[in-house]
Amino acid sequence: MSDNTIDRILTLELVRVTERAAVASSLLVGRGDEKEADQAAVDAMRKELNKLDIQGEVVIGEGERDEAPMLYIGEKVGTGKGPQVDIALDPLEGTTLTAKGQADALTTIAMAEKGSLLNAADVYMDKIAIGPGCPDDLVHLDEDPDVNIKAYSKAMNKPIELVTVCVLDRPRHGDIIESIRSAGARVRLIPDGDIAGVIHTTDKSTGIDIYMGIGGAPEGVLAAAALKCTGGQMQAKLVLEDQEKKDRATKMGIEDYNKIYKLNDLVSGDALFAATGVTNGSMLTGIEHNNGLWTNTVVMRSSSGTVRWIKSHHTNKEKFNLG
Ligand code: FBP
Repeated sequence: MSDNTIDRILTLELVRVTERAAVASSLLVGRGDEKEADQAAVDAMRKELNKLDIQGEVVIGEGERDEAPMLYIGEKVGTGKGPQVDIALDPLEGTTLTAKGQADALTTIAMAEKGSLLNAADVYMDKIAIGPGCPDDLVHLDEDPDVNIKAYSKAMNKPIELVTVCVLDRPRHGDIIESIRSAGARVRLIPDGDIAGVIHTTDKSTGIDIYMGIGGAPEGVLAAAALKCTGGQMQAKLVLEDQEKKDRATKMGIEDYNKIYKLNDLVSGDALFAATGVTNGSMLTGIEHNNGLWTNTVVMRSSSGTVRWIKSHHTNKEKFNLG
């Protein structure tokens, strides 16, 4: 994306992509069907992506070709005209949240210069992230949580008892949670949605200082694209505990199974990131029905560092299933 004009246009085009996916999946909020909600987002996202003048390739998607009929890894999207770009997407981040009608479901996408997104297999990833303005390499994925928290507290001049670490609420995180609490810091447990969890470290008003723990690798790359735009640091490692996962990683070109990826390894070139709220959440308000539909989207661009919060009003009944 060396042509900045195209890059700028695509930034706003991405808003349409996540908006449409959010509207489509919002019709399934609270209906108890995760798959249907996800499928609605996938269909809508694919349809919008295919209208864009890009030569896009999905590198982080809904799964591998044989297991996902749409937006699979390797699928070509766009009109075939325009810049060659890599695409990472999670059409519905928080399928369970959506099905249960809970807060914080989003639709997300990132676009980057061809060859610049880590081609991560759909496995788990261990992650740590902090926001902008911290000394380089302040925290390390391989350090114990209490060591990282103490380093953060000292460097950022913030009392440990005020440091808040965001963690996915999962049994596998029992040790991390205990270590954070015994260091004297606070834990903010989230039921799902670690893309927003990581992004929260970049916004002081969330009160979250550090993100830690294991979540999806695709979500890790998407969160890294957002951090590339806002500033901040992230380290990540694929969790490849058995041969089958190692083989899948090898298929994606991963050679070193124990590599710790830094932000620029996860996303090495210019990137765009967009997310639209499906249900009301800590980062974005969800779809509102009020004289048509309202959507709330954040869209970011790394080359300029611009972060736009876009509230859109949609009144086209046909396009938006407004009945
Ligand atoms: P889905 O929308 O695909 O269900 O992902 C939600 C999520 O919470 C992610 O944000 C996170 O990375 C991942 O699931 C964690 O996986 P698991 O639920 O298996 O712990």
